[in-house]
Amino acid sequence: MSRSETFPERVRFFADRVKSRLKSLRRDVAKLDETAVRAAYARWAPYYDIIFRAPLYWGRQAAVKHINTLSGHVLEAGVGTGMSLPNYRSDLEITGIDLSEDMLERARIRARDLPNVRELATMDAGDLAFPDDHFDVVVAMYVITVVPDPARVMRELERVTKPGGTVILVNHFSADSGLRAHAERALERFADRLGWNPDFSKSRLLARMAMPLEQETTVPPFGLFTMLPFRNPEPPASGA
Ligand SMILES: C[S@@+](CC[C@H](N)C(=O)[O-])C[C@H]1O[C@@H](n2cnc3c(N)ncnc32)[C@H](O)[C@@H]1O
Repeated sequence: MSRSETFPERVRFFADRVKSRLKSLRRDVAKLDETAVRAAYARWAPYYDIIFRAPLYWGRQAAVKHINTLSGHVLEAGVGTGMSLPNYRSDLEITGIDLSEDMLERARIRARDLPNVRELATMDAGDLAFPDDHFDVVVAMYVITVVPDPARVMRELERVTKPGGTVILVNHFSADSGLRAHAERALERFADRLGWNPDFSKSRLLARMAMPLEQETTVPPFGLFTMLPFRNPEPPASGA
């Protein structure tokens, strides 16, 4: 900066520097979160199926059963080790994405004998490399509380869903009050080590979804999980 610069020019210079620092800080924080998720699932991947097959079974079954009544191209966001892949109706075309290469490696082995699995790609659910209105069904099972930026992910899931299509979320949602709410809030500080955010309420999610909720189903064990299908409205017929 030269001495000849005017005061407003200097102010603009400093404002630009502050803005650019903030931008790179935001980028680093985002990267850190992604790194934490990848690191957590690299640790979980070898034991994931053994530990999470049973407790997460009913939610997966409920979502797949619902999806098997629909048709077309399905995106499974946060497909993990691909435990639900063998259960989709064979005429549904499945694309799976996940941030963790360690989890996907296992999904790829599972998909070897499944010709309806079109693609399994490493991708951030908050920054999907698919065009708008691309999938008939989009499902995220036990994912929305493990992503660094749930609002961004929900926007992306809605964006890639065709008009008339369905978005299905299966998750555990934290209690708004009571003992469980206290425990979940206390656990939040360990979110990066656990690889999921225990303090995430359904009201927080519903406030962020643009699509209308179709129904709500509580799933075992102990009613801990909830399946929420949302329907993307069809645009009104022209001339209507
Ligand atoms: C609890 S696991 C659920 C896996 C699978 N849906 C199931 O039912 O077993 C969460 C998965 O979400 C993935 N994940 C976390 N953040 C993600 C993101 N931003 N984009 C895509 N996948 C993500 C993790 O790598 C992990 O595989």
